[in-house]
Amino acid sequence: MDKIAIIDFGGQYCHLIARRIRDLGVYSEILPFKTTYNNLANLQPKGIILSGGPSSVYEENSPKLSKQTFEWILEKKIPILGICYGFHLLIHELGGKIELKEKKEYGKTELNIIQPNLILKGLTKKEIVWMSHGDQVISLPKGFEILAKTENCPIAAFGNNEQKIYGVQFHPEVTNTPKGNIILENFIFKVCNCKKEWELKDWINRKISEIKKEIGEKNNVILGLSGGVDSSVVAILLHKAIGDRLHCIFINNGVLRKFEEIEVQETFKANLGFKNFHFIDVEELFLDRLKGVEDPEKKRRIIGHTFIEVFEKKTIELEHLYPNIKYLAQGTIYPDRVETATTSNASAKIKSHHNLMLPENMTLKIIEPLKDLYKDEVRKIGIELGLPEKIIERHPFPGPGLAVRIIGAIDKEKLNILRDADAILIEEIKKAGLYKNLWQAFCVFLPLKTVGIMGDFRTYEYICAIRAVESLDAMTANFAKLSWELLEKIGTRIINEVKGINRVVYDISNKPPSTIEYE
Ligand code: XMP
Repeated sequence: MDKIAIIDFGGQYCHLIARRIRDLGVYSEILPFKTTYNNLANLQPKGIILSGGPSSVYEENSPKLSKQTFEWILEKKIPILGICYGFHLLIHELGGKIELKEKKEYGKTELNIIQPNLILKGLTKKEIVWMSHGDQVISLPKGFEILAKTENCPIAAFGNNEQKIYGVQFHPEVTNTPKGNIILENFIFKVCNCKKEWELKDWINRKISEIKKEIGEKNNVILGLSGGVDSSVVAILLHKAIGDRLHCIFINNGVLRKFEEIEVQETFKANLGFKNFHFIDVEELFLDRLKGVEDPEKKRRIIGHTFIEVFEKKTIELEHLYPNIKYLAQGTIYPDRVETATTSNASAKIKSHHNLMLPENMTLKIIEPLKDLYKDEVRKIGIELGLPEKIIERHPFPGPGLAVRIIGAIDKEKLNILRDADAILIEEIKKAGLYKNLWQAFCVFLPLKTVGIMGDFRTYEYICAIRAVESLDAMTANFAKLSWELLEKIGTRIINEVKGINRVVYDISNKPPSTIEYE
């Protein structure tokens, strides 16, 4: 399959470039800027995109490809497209000059096309593009020509058709560059000659055959199913491939949402016909261990460790019953495993809760069928495979569940109050048609009592906070600007219908500096 490699120089839009390329039908992978030419040789990309980034190429520690890697790319004549910082880096490496400008150019800008060369084909003489840069190219390397300019930027795009090297100062990957996709299409199809081979339907068929081949005719697989999108899609994919040789373990840890354990069982056992669905109800064990624990990190640790303990015990039990259990499946997706080498901190960012699933002495082989996919690709696959919408569209839910949505020590009473309030919130958000637009919406239990009045009686009850955020990746998030009418309706319903709450507040904090979850 034809592939495009995207080298990450710390740009906030790196994943967006990868997504755009995939949406255009070509498989793309992100590699850190420290990647070696061996890694590139293994991937065999038909083209390379150098991403943007916040650095300046003349800074001492600015991220750069190693000399050997850059020379290897040139020697192999792999087409290159540099974007923003990637554009500067190309100019710098090829012998052109860049100048640090006092005045930054930022926002929507008019681009004047000087040379409608291959990469800019299909654009009109003037186009709107999204600029975000301080440094500016002042002279080109030998053999290259200026393709476009803006009022403040005399070299806004450059290229050489023979060498198949191009660079643009602006960001073609963002929607603020309305014709940006044409540039990316030109690069991947006209310059790199990629074939459109990245189709999710094909991917499903190919993956099912790969899984069948890897697992073989007899082996069995274990999967920890949480009912979230990723593990549910892994479950249905594996079930299609190996049928009831898939064993799903679903653990009720006592901190799930209202009716969650019933709904998950209903979906997989009753509706989808999973025979080996193992439901473990260990609510009491978890709540016992969490009794009186106030510290958020301690709560997380207890839940994480207890989960592994229960999961491991069940796995051993199943291994005795089914000696052919040889694999452990995981719902790892692409963003979980991409090592993003940022400029300020080149260390790898990998979600730790995925690693948490692996018992140290485990002998099972790991299978991660979704490891190359983005979340929305996972969702599309789930729909294609017949998972119900309520699972596909479900908001993310943290592993430690409601325990991190009750401040301080948790108990059954608080959990039930929170469950009831949360169910009302979600019902109203869905009724208002807003559920899909929000990254997450949930209630938080604040263990503070305040005075209220219900009818003729004084009340002294707890506070419920509502958190609703918009986000693309949970790295940053803005509180959702829900209407007063909707908030009033939700607040009134919670206070009237949930015993134990007499005050509702709306959280207006963004991330950063706040986080999405409270603990
Ligand atoms: P924060 O609170 O850090 O959350 O802004 C970012 C996103 O991650 C989710 N989250 C978790 N997910 N295990 C998970 O699987 C966890 O321990 C965990 N903690 C936070 C959170 O819901 C949000 O979407």
